[in-house]
Amino acid sequence: MNNPKRYLITSALPYANGLKHIGHLAGAYLPADIYTRYLKAQKRDVVFVCGSDEHGTAIPIQAMKEGTTPQAIIDKYHPIIEQNFRDLGIAFDIYHRTSAPIHHTTAQEFFTVLNNHGDLEIKESEQYYDEDAKTFLADRFIKGTCPNCKYDNAFGDQCERCGKSLSPEELINPISTLSGKPPIKKLTKHWYLPLNKHEDFLREWVLKNHKDDWRANVVGQVKSWIDMGLQPRAVTRDLDWGVQVKTMVNDQWSVVEGKVLYVWFDAPIGYISATKQWALDNGKDWQPYWYDKDTKLVHFIGKDNIVFHAMIFPIMLKLHGNILPDNVPSNEFMNLEGDKMSTSRGWSIEMDEYINDWIKKENGGESMADVLRYYLTAIAPETKDSEFTWKGFQEANNSELVSILGNYVNRTFVLMHKLCGGKVPTFHNEIIDETDKQLITDILNTKLKVEQLIEGYKFREAQFEVIDLARKANQYMQKKEPWIVAKQLTENPNAQKLIDNCLYLCLQLTANLAILINPFLPFTAKKMLHMMKVVDRMLDWKNAGSLKLLSVGYSLREPQLLFRKIEDEEINFQIEKLKNKSLKTKVEKIKSETPDLKPEIQFEDFSKIDLRIGTIISAEKVEKADKLLKLEIDLGFEKRTIVSGIALHYKPEEIIGKQVTVVCNLAPRKMRGIESNGMILMAEDKAGKLYFVNPDNTIDSGSTVS
Ligand code: MF3
Ligand code: ZN
Repeated sequence: MNNPKRYLITSALPYANGLKHIGHLAGAYLPADIYTRYLKAQKRDVVFVCGSDEHGTAIPIQAMKEGTTPQAIIDKYHPIIEQNFRDLGIAFDIYHRTSAPIHHTTAQEFFTVLNNHGDLEIKESEQYYDEDAKTFLADRFIKGTCPNCKYDNAFGDQCERCGKSLSPEELINPISTLSGKPPIKKLTKHWYLPLNKHEDFLREWVLKNHKDDWRANVVGQVKSWIDMGLQPRAVTRDLDWGVQVKTMVNDQWSVVEGKVLYVWFDAPIGYISATKQWALDNGKDWQPYWYDKDTKLVHFIGKDNIVFHAMIFPIMLKLHGNILPDNVPSNEFMNLEGDKMSTSRGWSIEMDEYINDWIKKENGGESMADVLRYYLTAIAPETKDSEFTWKGFQEANNSELVSILGNYVNRTFVLMHKLCGGKVPTFHNEIIDETDKQLITDILNTKLKVEQLIEGYKFREAQFEVIDLARKANQYMQKKEPWIVAKQLTENPNAQKLIDNCLYLCLQLTANLAILINPFLPFTAKKMLHMMKVVDRMLDWKNAGSLKLLSVGYSLREPQLLFRKIEDEEINFQIEKLKNKSLKTKVEKIKSETPDLKPEIQFEDFSKIDLRIGTIISAEKVEKADKLLKLEIDLGFEKRTIVSGIALHYKPEEIIGKQVTVVCNLAPRKMRGIESNGMILMAEDKAGKLYFVNPDNTIDSGSTVS
């Protein structure tokens, strides 16, 4: 789509369940920012939206980990992530949140439109239910043994040991993580989006119409999903965290208790609600951005989001009557120092961490934001996975930003002050030569190439072209040697003119570099503007290619260094830090898995306990005590009453005749008015489930245990 009337650019909404790392930044945010800055420099009508994804099980699960509420989790991470993006120059027009009321109503209306058109199917199915917690269990809340590798802590959606994706039904011995008890199956009703009914649309729209202009990884994934056979997909969940499902019957809303929209149904609608909020804040109309065919919609994402943005959300948009995305540029993954980036394993560089270590520590630290932007774009995983290394980061800074771009701009300014009195010199057309002409052509060609590459979502090559222009400019200066010509002022009548021409072109090229580099390195472009004493308007893209950006006789400021060298020690420090962080995470994990043992005791202490095998002869619930059972236990030499806290785990009738280990010489205790004479031993597994401790064969009641 060329020359659309307006653009709507989106970056995947990150889950507000923790800090985000630089792999995320490189995947969906930085490229979108470069694209948007370029369009804005072209004075296009463009809105760039993003925000926090605050629903789904990721949030309550993090809340359990941190021992707090889901609301506290999103309120903690949303502002940090927002600020991190700002510090790195990601200039969203709005950074919204899906917990906002406007989002809830937008998502509910969207659902209702589809529901009332008959685009959704309602089906009943049996799903796991926790009777204690009185709730259906989302996949992540069920644990059990992996059918593939037999790991006993696999989740209902995936085994974290072998990586296999699972459904809760496949788990062996499933356990609810809420109560620690095995869940039961219960009938429940859900709404489904029948993807299978839209196969023809996807084939035509993606596999045919976009097979050439979309990235191969996107078209490839869509094709393989279609080839596997499309299935209806549930768009609601039995959960209490999310956008409440509501239906509209005869103009009356009615709430469907206990059900929320599936997070992947509500989150992309977040792009729409963010646009609405942006329009409200800015006195604009949001509707054309989502309904007018002359809007170019582009979703920037990482590869794990492809199915949702290239298949499911477009189907939703089509059904709802919205425009479809024009492109879905998706990046592959960025690895780190030879391993997958992962915050939970401690093998990552969080945006927050980079900002603290590199940007906040030094004066003028914003240029370190550009160094990160530069390196991430230079190694962007546009077509295949790539790898971040600290050495590569240092190398990119020292030998490209410092030695090529920074050095060129600095030399130009120093020489202009030394040889041209700090002013833009005159250009003498009559002595222009082939070398000058070549440089002028290079400027124009670079502009055209960069445009073409950015518009084709090839940011890595586009940035390379800009640096390559600086490289050529350095060579030009090297060839012209104005510092040598300056020594020939007396014998060569053209000497000053030669110097003027060289520095005139070098200065105009510097101004061009500022325009061309601005989408990639906005902080650096700003610094260059300051040195040239010009206003932001100069960065208008239409100015690129001009050789009259700085007028003759205009006096410019003293140069400032654009970048500083990065020393080996700084890099070694980061590498060590990364290793320590992952080690620390490993140690903490092992620690959390090893129990705190009780202090050592002597044999005499242990031998004071009289343990014997008993047989349960009767069991009944204790009134008004959910957890207690009153047991009658035969010890061979006598019968005893023992009250035990196992009522949530065993029904009275199922334990009659079971053998148990009894502590016989425990002082009697009264519980709910019943005297308990002793205690039975119970083993408890990780999930909190209780088991009897008994002999592996039935033996005489009263047998001793020692
Ligand atoms: N929160 C999701 C993730 O981090 C992305 C959501 S993108 C949206 O993978 F389109 F759904 F918003
Ligand atoms: Zn497994």
